[in-house]
Amino acid sequence: MEITKLQLFSYRNYKQCEIDFKNGLNVICGKNAQGKTNLLEAVYFCVVGKSFRASREKEVINKDSEFAKIKLFIKKEIGNSIVEIIFSRKDKKTVKINGVPIKKISELLGEFNGVFFSPDELKLIKESPEDRRRFMDIDISQTNKQYFYLLNRYNQILQNRNKQLKMNLKRDDLVDIMKIWNTQLATCSLKIAKYRQNFVYMLAPFAQKAHSYLTDNKEKLGLEYVGIEEKTEEDIIKHLEKNLDKDLALGYTSYGPHRDDIKVTINDVDVRTYGSQGQQRTCALSLKLAELDIIKNQINTKPVLLLDDVLSELDDDRKNRLLAYCKNVQTLITCTSFNYNVQCNKLEIENGEVKK
Ligand SMILES: Nc1ncnc2c1ncn2[C@@H]1O[C@H](COP(=O)(O)OP(=O)(O)O)[C@@H](O)[C@H]1O
Ligand SMILES: [Mg+2]
Repeated sequence: MEITKLQLFSYRNYKQCEIDFKNGLNVICGKNAQGKTNLLEAVYFCVVGKSFRASREKEVINKDSEFAKIKLFIKKEIGNSIVEIIFSRKDKKTVKINGVPIKKISELLGEFNGVFFSPDELKLIKESPEDRRRFMDIDISQTNKQYFYLLNRYNQILQNRNKQLKMNLKRDDLVDIMKIWNTQLATCSLKIAKYRQNFVYMLAPFAQKAHSYLTDNKEKLGLEYVGIEEKTEEDIIKHLEKNLDKDLALGYTSYGPHRDDIKVTINDVDVRTYGSQGQQRTCALSLKLAELDIIKNQINTKPVLLLDDVLSELDDDRKNRLLAYCKNVQTLITCTSFNYNVQCNKLEIENGEVKK
């Protein structure tokens, strides 16, 4: 899978812009605050239907404009496609695939596959399990819509259950009501756990390979899914029942896939606690490169790799290894200066425009 062209209209600091991309390495160069990250944001918008940084979506609309548009041209093994996203200050955004508006964002998933990495992604290793769950969820959803629906359903049930917990019902009544929620929750929990377990199991060898490569075999990366251990719905229900008083006291459900995690180790030591910043960063990158491999395996074509500002964060050895890796997959990489002796399509960005 490849992108051939991106058009932006009133998107952040881009007024009107058209950029052609080549296969292999595309280097997006420019000084600070010129629009490099904005560009990757726009491309990644077409992968997941949302921004990796805007909390309020309308903030992507140029400050002097009423609407904004992203138009991305994708070349695939079979057929090409165009993804368009139109933002308006007044209405909800519209997403079109080949000119046809979609009804649900889930219809977009899988249309265009990409993997995004920025220094921020360090939180994938460093921060709370939530970030690692999001990583699993976005990944599995990209190639599996059933999972996306399942997750939505789980969250809905969880919300309802939590609401009940806060309603100050008599305990006996609550026990009855909880039976329904627990059963539904258990069904979804078991399925989600299986998907995630399987995902981490598949991811591990790829992540290990990427990490060995980036570190020149100096470090061995290990991944382990940490989640619910029960093997049947009945056992999960029992666990939920056992936790009722605890949940009542807390006012929320304390057990389930919404607490899952991935344990990451280097040479068998927990990276989150003991890894250096550099190790954690390389780990996060390895996970992302592995994500790329997994998606590739599932859809039989390579997704596009989007790397924001990663070069400044790596030592020369790791930098060169990463760049060598990027030759084999269409990559968009941003940086402030680029003087490496590799073949690439170099684009200069200045103030929301590509310098000709
Ligand atoms: N909605 C918007 N309208 C106009 N400019 C914007 C908007 N959102 C962000 N910007 C501008 O985009 C620039 C930052 O772009 P960014 O892609 O993060 O830069 P960098 O090249 O450093 O990655 C800033 O100058 C910011 O003011
Ligand atoms: Mg940036």
